[in-house]
This record gives sequence, structure tokens and C-alpha cells, in this order.
Amino acid sequence: MTEAQAILAHVEAGVLTLTFNRLHKKNAITTAMYTSLADALTEAAADSAVRAVVIQGHEQIFTAGNDLADFRNNPPSTDADKPVPVFRFLEALRTFPKPVVAAVCGPAVGIGTTLLLHCDLVYAGDNAAFSLPFVNLGLCPEAGASLLLPALVGYPRAAEKLLLGEAFYAEEAVDMGLVNRILPPHELAGYAQAQALKLAAKPPESLRITKALMKQSHAAVLPVLMKEEFRHFGELLRGPAAKEALSAVMEKRRPDFSKL
Ligand code: COA
Repeated sequence: MTEAQAILAHVEAGVLTLTFNRLHKKNAITTAMYTSLADALTEAAADSAVRAVVIQGHEQIFTAGNDLADFRNNPPSTDADKPVPVFRFLEALRTFPKPVVAAVCGPAVGIGTTLLLHCDLVYAGDNAAFSLPFVNLGLCPEAGASLLLPALVGYPRAAEKLLLGEAFYAEEAVDMGLVNRILPPHELAGYAQAQALKLAAKPPESLRITKALMKQSHAAVLPVLMKEEFRHFGELLRGPAAKEALSAVMEKRRPDFSKL
């Protein structure tokens, strides 16, 4: 399978469906996949035939987050003004003017969870497992999560998720307001499509303005913060804690941060 096919893009009845499709690596997202996602969203934003988007994985896995080999071998530039693929994708999603529905089954790690903060409706399979293991990898949050998560769930809960980095599950995600509804995994894709089809039938300009109004409170600060997060993230990725954490993952051992 080439990396171009690792993101499937399919338009039907006004709904663009983007599917993570790199199952042998648990849908871990490579640079090429970020490019595919960014291109698809950028084109869809300008295409009047697309009126809603679904982002989904498979019934057992949404995504294992950023490809860890890419983190080691091809770390993104620390210069957020350079349009590197992951940042292009996040910007395309943050500014996407039409409704985005996410369907999450299985693990949604790192950016697999933070991207949800930019979606409009999030549905989860009862097997969904969300996690924000940035600190455990010697990194920091991205995608505006350091603002959006505390704003959504309150500081104490956001701190628990971002500082400890432990997984949390579908019921807690609903309780936190991150997820709209839980479904059996085999029903999730169909339900997300049905919701997207409802949105695709609504007047696009009303949807666009309603979405923009709801996002307005963070619209000025978010792009600045995302660049700051990105700069820290890139620097941390080149630092000793991330090197130790990524080596530990590859060597299937616990990381040792005691000397840092
Ligand atoms: N990047 C690259 N490869 C990954 C990956 C990632 N983020 N996550 C999983 N894989 C690969 C594994 O290396 C393994 O490849 P191999 O068969 O060639 O050895 C394959 O996917 C299966 O992974 P495995 O860990 O055996 O699957 P699992 O079902 O037991 O666990 C996860 C699934 C997602 C819970 C687990 O793989 C995981 O925690 N991955 C790391 C997630 C992460 O830290 N992401 C970065 C966030 S910032």
C-alpha cells in the first residue's frame, strides 16, 4: 500500500469521507498522510459539491497518532511559518468552514484526540480510547489543545489528561463534552454518515456562519497559540526527553527520565 492510499477520500451525496487507512501501523499518521488530509480539506473548502465532511478510521482503531518513526527520522520544522504538512492539516481543519463529523472507534492517540477539538460533531464507538500522551513522550500539546481542552472540560480535568497522559474512554469523553454520543462500533460509520447527510441538506451559508460564530471566541488567539505550541513541540522533539521516550518505545521498555 502506498502512503497516498493511506488516506481514503470519497465524496458521495455532498459528504466527503476521509478514512485513515494504514491499519498495519494502527493508522499512524505520516507526513504524506498529513499532506493528503490537508489537500483534501483545502479542496473541499472551495468545492461547493462538498457540504459536510466525515473523518473516520476503522472499527478497531481511529489512529495511533503521529507516526513515531517520522518523529525520530523526519521531525517537523520548529518554524511554524513554514507550511509543514502537519501544520497545514491542522490549519485546514481549524479554518474549515463546513461541518465536520468525526467517528472514533478504538484508540485515538495524540493528534487523533486533539483533532477532535476542531470537529463539530464527534461520535464514538463504545471501544473508543482517547489519550494525550505528549508529556510521556517528552513533548507538549498541539492543535490548540492547551487552550481548547481546558476551555471545554475545565482546567483540573484538562490537566489530568494532559499532564498524566493516561487513556480515557467513551463514557468519560461524553461526560467531558468531547463526544456527542456513543454507539456500537459496527453502527458508528453509518450513523456518522447519516448525521453528515443531514448537515449536507441544510443551507450552507447558515451552517458556515453559525459555525464561524461559535468558533469566534478563540478565532484570534488560536492561530497564535498553535504556532507557539508548534515551536515548543518541535524543540522538545529534538530534546533529550523525547529522544529517551522514543528510544524506549522502539526498544519496548519504560523510559527513564530520572537523569533529566
Ligand atoms: N507510529 C508508528 N507505528 C506505530 C504507531 C505509531 N504511532 N503506533 C503503532 N504502530 C505500529 C507498531 O510499531 C506495530 O508495528 P509492527 O507490527 O511493524 O511492529 C503496529 O503498529 C501495531 O502496533 P501495536 O502496538 O502492536 O498495536 P496495539 O493494538 O497493541 O496497540 C496502540 C495500539 C495505538 C495503543 C499502540 O500501538 C500505541 O500506543 N502506539 C503509540 C501511540 C503514540 O505514542 N503515538 C504518538 C502520539 S503523540
